[in-house]
Amino acid sequence: MRSWTVLGAVSLCLLSASDVLAVKTHDFKTCSQSGFCRRGRALASRAQAAANQWKSPYSVDASSVSIASDQAKFTAGVKSSLYPDVKFSLELRVHEDGVVRVRMDEVGGLHKRYDEAASWALIQEPTIHKKVKWTASKKDVRASFGANKEFDIIVAYQPLQVTLLRNGKEQVVLNGKGLLHMEHFRSKAVVMTETEEGEPKPEAAAEDAQQVLAKPEDPKAWFEGETEDGLWEETFGSFTDSKPKGPESLSIDINFPNHGVVYGIPQHATRLALPTTSGENPFFSDPYRLYNADVFEYIASSTMSLYGSIPLLHAHSVDSTVGVFHAVGSETWIDVAHPTEKSTETHWISESGIMDVFLLPGPTPEDVFRQYSRLTGAAVLPAYFSLGYHQCRWNYVSTDDVRTVQKRFDEEDMPVDVFWLDIEYSEDHKYMIWEKKNFPDPVDMINDVAALGRKMVVIVDPHVKRTQDYPVYKEASELEVLVKPKGGSGEYEGWCWSGSSSWIDFFNPTSWDWWISLFKPHKLDNGRWSWIDSTEAVHIWNDMNEPSVFNGPEITMPKDNIHYGGWEHRDVHNINGMLYSNLTSQAVAARSDPPKRPFVLTRAFYAGSQRFGAMWTGDNLGTWEHMAVGIKMVLSNGIAGMTFSGSDVGGFFGNPEPEMLVRWYQVGVFAPFFRAHAHLDTKRREPYLLDEPYKGIVRDILRLRYSMLPIWYTLFRETSVTGIPVLRPQYVVFPKDPNGFDIDDQYYIGTSLLVKPVTSKGATEATVYLGEDQVYYDYFTYKAYRGSSKGKNITVSAELYQVPLFIRGGSILPTRERARRSSSSMKHDPFTLKIALDQQSSSARGELYLDDGESYDHQKGEFVWREFRAEKPNKKTLRITSKDLAAEKPGVAVEGVALAKFDPSNAYAKSLEKENVRVERLVVLGVPGLPKSVKVEGSSEELVWEYIQGVAAGESKKEGYTSILKIKDPKVLVTKDWAITVQL
Ligand SMILES: *[C@@H]1O[C@H](CO)[C@@H](O)[C@H](O)[C@H]1NC(C)=O
Ligand SMILES: *[C@@H]1O[C@H](CO)[C@@H](O)[C@H](O)[C@H]1NC(C)=O
Repeated sequence: MRSWTVLGAVSLCLLSASDVLAVKTHDFKTCSQSGFCRRGRALASRAQAAANQWKSPYSVDASSVSIASDQAKFTAGVKSSLYPDVKFSLELRVHEDGVVRVRMDEVGGLHKRYDEAASWALIQEPTIHKKVKWTASKKDVRASFGANKEFDIIVAYQPLQVTLLRNGKEQVVLNGKGLLHMEHFRSKAVVMTETEEGEPKPEAAAEDAQQVLAKPEDPKAWFEGETEDGLWEETFGSFTDSKPKGPESLSIDINFPNHGVVYGIPQHATRLALPTTSGENPFFSDPYRLYNADVFEYIASSTMSLYGSIPLLHAHSVDSTVGVFHAVGSETWIDVAHPTEKSTETHWISESGIMDVFLLPGPTPEDVFRQYSRLTGAAVLPAYFSLGYHQCRWNYVSTDDVRTVQKRFDEEDMPVDVFWLDIEYSEDHKYMIWEKKNFPDPVDMINDVAALGRKMVVIVDPHVKRTQDYPVYKEASELEVLVKPKGGSGEYEGWCWSGSSSWIDFFNPTSWDWWISLFKPHKLDNGRWSWIDSTEAVHIWNDMNEPSVFNGPEITMPKDNIHYGGWEHRDVHNINGMLYSNLTSQAVAARSDPPKRPFVLTRAFYAGSQRFGAMWTGDNLGTWEHMAVGIKMVLSNGIAGMTFSGSDVGGFFGNPEPEMLVRWYQVGVFAPFFRAHAHLDTKRREPYLLDEPYKGIVRDILRLRYSMLPIWYTLFRETSVTGIPVLRPQYVVFPKDPNGFDIDDQYYIGTSLLVKPVTSKGATEATVYLGEDQVYYDYFTYKAYRGSSKGKNITVSAELYQVPLFIRGGSILPTRERARRSSSSMKHDPFTLKIALDQQSSSARGELYLDDGESYDHQKGEFVWREFRAEKPNKKTLRITSKDLAAEKPGVAVEGVALAKFDPSNAYAKSLEKENVRVERLVVLGVPGLPKSVKVEGSSEELVWEYIQGVAAGESKKEGYTSILKIKDPKVLVTKDWAITVQL
């Protein structure tokens, strides 16, 4: 949903095609327009200019070091030589898994710094290592840890510097360049003048004047600059930020002397491997900005803030991956430079909050994913339907419109799971109140959709129309759970879709139960309002939760607004939107008893948002450039935890020509979240409206998605346990291959599928990089290609109807090939196993995970989890087996969460058995020769099979059509152990 700044009435007809131009960059700050960013960068350039003379004023007071005897934890006092009276505290902890947490705060200051960001992001208080011992000397305090004590963490006293090493090699260094600066709270300088009567009278310091702070030879000036800069008040356009607490920013340099590539800190529209923003000839001139913002028609290559912010960075090299997570909720800017090809320097500048940095030691990308998900949780296991295709538009205009769209999908045999309603379903944008004229029978409409096994997603935005006839506003106002304006009393009022609006303060615990009860589809006992015109088939879309405020500074809330606990909006801005989707997902789950898995889509996000549902990349443009960058953004979101991610298919703005729309579906089908959406002003573009051949191509793409649902769901189970994203960039799969570090236009789905969507007009072929000596089978034609251990490019045909998609040798993929109208009608469909034999040993492996897809019974052991293997025990035999993984590895929820014992005859597994859910086809790719016989072990009956002569997996020099063995209906159940033997 786009927004724009309109002071006064908001009218939808203001839009026209000419609006589709470019972002209004002047609505958003550059670093030079933000006081604390300017100060942070100025500090960095003074340090640069002073080179070797530069010395951080911060040091650890050696006498204050206090080591916990039974835990890997120490505290110490820190001082700044510039302000001997100001005190800081430092605390380091080593967690059980080797993550090091570094916290620094000001103590006994004029105010308290915001220190709660981690409490919203983290799933629990991490367990501190019991065995690691700190030892303090005269110059530092240090500890070793890891299986072979390969890690060392050293905190040098003078100046304060924190270094993490592995095998003696520096991994991460904090304050190595001396850019640490925690601006302490201070009183506004007052200049005493005399009144006419001769009485002294304080005179406020000039507002944004360049007040002389210190003499040039003063070390303060040397470190902080000679002038005060935007400390006490700041204006941007017509907006003034009153900054009642004055300056409190935090600058810290975080360097990776042995890592030449960095990834992460989404969300930005740029390459996955982050281009530089400082140093020599930087690619971008501004630092990466993290400040959740509703950026209208964003630029496809920029460091500008977008809707979500995750302060997690991966640094990578051929022999190590490390991560840094800074739990900060305020606006943050991050500069990236590569002083050499093999090293990276980053500089983080945050407006407020404490330093709360987690060093994730890796040393592999997968280790970093696990370490991060132990902190902030793994992605939720989604409701099965939400992996299907979502049809959205601003707007389906009536209940009958929805019915017609559904009918058209069915007439054209196009599968779809969800129909979406954007803001126009609601009366005057009072969300949850149906607009009666066009939506006279909402529950009947929902039931009509649900009758065909489908769902609806309806938008509920966080701006609440300020009118007494809106129960949500009335109750929120009575409960006093609305965000307050500066000063802290009354209700903050701003403009959004609903005109004059207020915002619920989800930091206020009083709002929580109330918000959850609003979504109950039945009357409440306490007489409060609830959404009775709704059903359990309705799921929720949270848009505009940055929050977007049309008449606010940078289209959001003023930073001096007040939240629960007296905190300013500035302290919690980036966290705010996450609490909204947290509470909404709890509300949707709590409608049913027992609860059902909710689906909530959010636009704003923060570290931890992966626990609450999916996100999308916001209001993209219908351009090839946006199509391409959307892939990179989805990959980047994924490595920062938000793996359930996608971009609007078709582009939100504009009218894509059929070729572009087809290519966009080919992008969307390989994203975890697959939704088509379109702006109010665009022409209708539901896929059934296309002419042939486009329509047929898109139908095939939709069917491909549905056939692959078991693959997606199995991968989501894995990510919900390990935190390893569903989509894996090349560097994640091949961390040692430098050729792949900058590749972000092709990626792996899990580890078995490699895809390179086409994102350019008129393409007929594509180049795909294969980073290993392995056979890759074209998913559709079964043609075999060979990679190389040195890396190799192959060129493949990519006509409009083709997407380069490959099965990696060594994989087994479960699919469901029967065309159905939605995922719910596939519950008992049989499976096809695609068995892609590996080049070296002609073996393969894969998994299938299944559960009811909607309840939480899987947490009680109600699921089926199989391992399939193909092996050659000897030259003459190929053996394909199915084994129960659940009995072996019963844990399915996030690691560390204890689960009920797995029951192999659980009711869910039994229900599949009863329905005879079986493997109906096996397709073995790369078989080494014409089989003599194919039998289920324990049976003497010869199965029905077909062999097509071609290239075998092991013929490592040969490319071309592969040899295929198709085994027809062996009548083996997915719930049972079995083996099929192929005699060669
Ligand atoms: C958010 O979600 C977590 C579960 O992941 C829960 O423990 C927490 O209390 C929730 N509430 C808020 C307001 O963040
Ligand atoms: C593959 O092609 C890309 C450009 O298309 C090129 O940059 C890269 O060096 C090539 N890699 C190999 C191993 O040939």
